[in-house]
Amino acid sequence: MNTVAVTFHPESSRAARYARIVKSSKKTDWQIDRDLLQGRTFEFSRKFLPDALSRVDRLSFLAPDETRLLSQIQGRTYAYLFGLVERFISVKMLEQGRAHAFDDQIALEALVRFSGEEIKHQELFRRMEAMIDSQLPAGYRQVADPNDVARAVLAASTWSVLALTCHIELFVQAHYAESIGPHEDLCPLFKDVFKFHWRDESRHVVLDELEWKDEHARLSAHERDQAVDDLIALVAAVDGILQSQSQSDTDYFIRCVSRSFSVEETAKIEASVLSAYRWQYIISGVQHPHFGRLLSSMTTSAQMSRIESALVPIMTG
Ligand SMILES: [Fe+2]
Ligand SMILES: [Fe+2]
Repeated sequence: MNTVAVTFHPESSRAARYARIVKSSKKTDWQIDRDLLQGRTFEFSRKFLPDALSRVDRLSFLAPDETRLLSQIQGRTYAYLFGLVERFISVKMLEQGRAHAFDDQIALEALVRFSGEEIKHQELFRRMEAMIDSQLPAGYRQVADPNDVARAVLAASTWSVLALTCHIELFVQAHYAESIGPHEDLCPLFKDVFKFHWRDESRHVVLDELEWKDEHARLSAHERDQAVDDLIALVAAVDGILQSQSQSDTDYFIRCVSRSFSVEETAKIEASVLSAYRWQYIISGVQHPHFGRLLSSMTTSAQMSRIESALVPIMTG
């Protein structure tokens, strides 16, 4: 018979963290219709994404109704891309939970609830897409399929998937706390969607960190080195999606606007939308102080330099 593991202090504080997450998840559990939508619709007389994220204010030649429309298109894509990444995040957390299936039942519950919350968020973002689609002109396109992306991402090492997930869930919080929450003039329902989302994500990021550090401790130096290459490839894949979606969104915006733009203005809109998406989905996470601390604590200086060089074209493009 196996001996019963003795629980030392670091483990008990760790168990306490999982327990706190489960308690908070139960206490703040919300339903899409009852607590969030409450029969409301999006207000198209308001911006969706704030300028700090959409950067539409940098396009000085656009009229106010045009910057508003571009912020709504970007807000639509912002929700779509969260739903996209949540497909692989929810599946990954089910896999991580499986590892706790026959030991820590609180950790298992924390990860199952995490996965369930991501499934709820995906339903919310699908509902949101249908609501926005009914109000904006036809022709908007989502460039990537969530299942295709999830299959490709989940083929990468667990270390790299957890690193990417932790990065995403940290920038979600920064976006809401610094840009969406404090902005008074945005569409109220759009703000509330990301308020409810942010509350759940603030728990997820605690679990990401626990799982990522555990995985790091399990790997050999060689496996960690390969995982860094996987993370670089995952970020490049995210950037590929951002390039295609920003091009598609720019084309859609130009088709929706009733006047024509010069070649130079079109190029400026394209560059601005891509830089906004890179800021939202890559740079604001990479520059998040806590993510920086975690990544440098789990990489060597040579690995960190490899990551930094891979990011140069994205940061300066
Ligand atoms: Fe989420
Ligand atoms: Fe999450």
